[in-house]
Amino acid sequence: MGLEIARALLERGYNLSVIYRSSEKEALKIDEVGRELGRKVLLLNGDLSDEEFCGEAVERTFQDMGRIDALLHLASPYFRTPIETLSEESIQEHFKPIAQAFVLLSKEAYSRMIPNEGRVKGHIVAFGDWAVECTPYRNYAAYFVAKGALHTAVKVLAKEFAPHVLVNCIALGPTLKAEELSDEEWERILRNTPLKREVSLSDVVNLAVFLLEAESLTGEIVNLDSGRHIAGSGTSSIG
Ligand SMILES: NC(=O)c1ccc[n+]([C@@H]2O[C@H](COP(=O)([O-])OP(=O)(O)OC[C@H]3O[C@@H](n4cnc5c(N)ncnc54)[C@H](OP(=O)(O)O)[C@@H]3O)[C@@H](O)[C@H]2O)c1
Repeated sequence: MGLEIARALLERGYNLSVIYRSSEKEALKIDEVGRELGRKVLLLNGDLSDEEFCGEAVERTFQDMGRIDALLHLASPYFRTPIETLSEESIQEHFKPIAQAFVLLSKEAYSRMIPNEGRVKGHIVAFGDWAVECTPYRNYAAYFVAKGALHTAVKVLAKEFAPHVLVNCIALGPTLKAEELSDEEWERILRNTPLKREVSLSDVVNLAVFLLEAESLTGEIVNLDSGRHIAGSGTSSIG
């Protein structure tokens, strides 16, 4: 998803700083698209669980680009953590890159956005999950605790950074099948959405672009989920 959003932003004229951990192929593809379009792309390799790296990433971006207008946070592990075997390690493995990194990157980026001209000086967009606000499903405790903190952080930072920097969240429903889900699980997940389909990538891109350009929307969690949040809850292990 990061690659598709990056492509759309490069096409709209943004220069990009891209943080990746192991997806070098996708990062290099973004770099290639940037070169084709004559945009600047800075690739930063590191682990967002590392607090120091979060600070360095923002600083290197500012030094290289000369300004920061926007921050998008997509990074997120997604794997089962059955409650019986839930550990401090698996909780941190989710919480750090999802919630802690979002807060640290936002704090650093905010201080670099403040000198920007105009009333709105920057935009921050997080990627959450429809199920956080409605009905977390079973076997993903570490993921949901972290995404829940992310949704709260969006509202907290929206208030802290007002009136200059707008902070919003896209709460996604099923969009791209995670590797660990079987085809059968994925089909069942899609059947559970009122629209009986996956979220389209073009909707994700268009909403992200809108949130990066909005002037009067902040602290909002927008469900982009083929209507899944109105389909009711259950006790199943996958949404
Ligand atoms: N796909 C869906 O249907 C769906 C549904 C609901 C919500 N979402 C949310 O939408 C966002 C994008 O989803 P996606 O499907 O594009 O996810 P994805 O393909 O799994 O990509 C997530 C990326 O997070 C990065 N990441 C994980 N831990 C990291 C760490 N410690 N440090 C740095 N990077 C780390 C990984 O980078 P590397 O590969 O470089 O290691 C990975 O490429 C995520 O926040 C996800 O939770 C997606």
